[in-house]
Amino acid sequence: MKDKYYDHIIHGGDYNPDQWIDTKEIWDEDMRLMDLAHVNSATVGIFSWSLTEPEEGVYDFSWLDEIMEKLAAHGKKAILATPSGARPPWLAQKYPEVLRVEETGIRNEYGVRHNHCLTSPVYREKVREINRRLAERYGKHPALLMWHISNEYSGECHCELCQKAFRAWLRERYHNDLNELNFKWWNGFWSHRFTDWDQISSPKGRGENHVPALKLAWRRFVTDQHISFFENEIAPLRELSPDVPVTTNLMRLYTGIDYQKLAPHLDIVSWDNYPDWTAPDTLDTACETAFVHDAFRSMKHGKPFYMMESTPSVVNWRPVNGLPAPGLPELAAIQAVAHGADSVQYFQWRASRGGHEKFHGAVVDHYGKEDTRVFKETAAVGAMLEKLDAAVGGRTEAKAAVICDWENSWAVDFYCGYRRDGRDYFGACRKWYRALWERGIPTDVIPMDRDLSGYDLVIAPYLYMLKNGTEDRLASFTENGGTLIATPLFGLVDEYDLCYLGGFPAGRLKEVFGLRREETDALPDGETVPVEFSKKTYAAAKLCDILIPSGAKTLGKFRGKFYAESPAVTGNAYGRGTAYYVAFEPDADFIGAFLTSIISGLGFQSDVKATLPAGVIARKRGDLTYVMNFNNKNTQVFFYKTYTNEFTGKPVLSALLPPYGYVVLR
Ligand code: GLA
Ligand code: GLA
Repeated sequence: MKDKYYDHIIHGGDYNPDQWIDTKEIWDEDMRLMDLAHVNSATVGIFSWSLTEPEEGVYDFSWLDEIMEKLAAHGKKAILATPSGARPPWLAQKYPEVLRVEETGIRNEYGVRHNHCLTSPVYREKVREINRRLAERYGKHPALLMWHISNEYSGECHCELCQKAFRAWLRERYHNDLNELNFKWWNGFWSHRFTDWDQISSPKGRGENHVPALKLAWRRFVTDQHISFFENEIAPLRELSPDVPVTTNLMRLYTGIDYQKLAPHLDIVSWDNYPDWTAPDTLDTACETAFVHDAFRSMKHGKPFYMMESTPSVVNWRPVNGLPAPGLPELAAIQAVAHGADSVQYFQWRASRGGHEKFHGAVVDHYGKEDTRVFKETAAVGAMLEKLDAAVGGRTEAKAAVICDWENSWAVDFYCGYRRDGRDYFGACRKWYRALWERGIPTDVIPMDRDLSGYDLVIAPYLYMLKNGTEDRLASFTENGGTLIATPLFGLVDEYDLCYLGGFPAGRLKEVFGLRREETDALPDGETVPVEFSKKTYAAAKLCDILIPSGAKTLGKFRGKFYAESPAVTGNAYGRGTAYYVAFEPDADFIGAFLTSIISGLGFQSDVKATLPAGVIARKRGDLTYVMNFNNKNTQVFFYKTYTNEFTGKPVLSALLPPYGYVVLR
């Protein structure tokens, strides 16, 4: 698959001319304004099914013909959506089975979006049919750049069709053998041995919700249902427009679908980025966003992705929707590009006149003209992106990785014990990531089944579940010279949530780490246990493992509770590599000190030749280096070598970055 689908950074966003069908003069005005805003692409048709198929089997594409022609005439690309995210009322009226059944067993009524059954053969057929017509009509259209499949796939359905499909899925996975399922789900517990497949149904509040293996199976099934729904959607597109890439817009760290399993089915990953820039700690918001960018970049092994949506100003769905400070949307655009995005797109181009989202930010608001702050700032972003053709298709090579695995996140949420409250698996992964990000060290965020041989450092926070040969992969990685870091909960269960017997972590990993974890203490919020490491004292929180070393060197010790003197940080030489165990939830100070001691030994270097002041983040991608100031104040950066400013061509040895300013260097 190609890394590059267009020669320029895509700048545009969701465009709903179908809402303005009665005031078509606005369409021409949109084209004029898009030119002014340096917009080169529009995402069309996402929620337009009721217009293109107003009655069953009656199609009217005249409006879309006109829009596609206008976009082509203005030299703009169309990212054309399939409309399955929301359906016309007639469809639900005639075929109630297309509507979703909630966990309560009650079928939803018509309304909202994301309200369809994933299994319904009728719905799949209707979707395939309209998609076929779109592909027949526009598959070879000069404006067409990409297919945007549906919108933010999410949720699940518990109808009888889905229950049947779930049972069929289970039969296949467990070789049609209920004994195998009973064993893997440990159904002897609370007398749950099934004797008939029909006794099994989806997990629900008023039914079975205490079998982690069932909950895992259901999430895996829901993921597979989404994948097969997606494959059904794209079948006619592949047939009629085989060269046009397909994507679907994903939502941050949404866990209802295993995105890492879905990603291989997309030609290019895209996601909708809505950081909360009004939160008090801008750098934290920036880190959260960077982490998600890197997770999506890593899903396709480093291939560039699209930032399919973002807001040019506010959202409308937070409890309080404050305006981000001017400059932050532009900095967020550069941050996306720095982390691998080949697009900066918005929800939405023009604000709706009515409906639920009319007060969501838009490039063109209800005033309708170009002399607004938001329009001018968006146009400035567009003009800037036009100078960044050199960025398109660029990759970032990372020698460090944080394992952050969707299925493990489910398992960590589902187990009962230790601390039931305050679990934040993604947050824990991000803490480790942050220390590398702040140091300018590119880091991949990967699933556990990834080949690790290209990395020097792999961090596996809370890697509770080990599946698909992970035990061997981690062992060989270390044996072959890698540096591996693990934390509490490491290697406790297999992919069915069955505990490994014979001591934790699983199997061979006891040798890799030179230890055994015997017990885990859980601390309430606010309580910490002192840890001494490298002559300093740090605070251990949440979980503290009591380790029994069998070869590992103690590098740090607990200094409190009855396990004072017990190893809190260990290192073990294994093969040509080293495995470190950090037996508690560390804070940023500890992670900083600990990683500094490790990465200097590994010869890791910052992406940028500079000492970065606090709040300034650098990222190299391709030939360009992006230096971004997340401080709300002027910040001076001095470089160790002379760069060239990509926009001005001037040499750069130091830069005074304004609040939320940035510089792009070559
Ligand atoms: C109760 C129940 C047991 C077990 C324990 C756990 O005592 O009777 O089956 O669940 O709680 O503490
Ligand atoms: C999501 C959806 C859009 C819109 C925006 C609002 O990203 O895909 O249709 O609802 O949220 O922020």
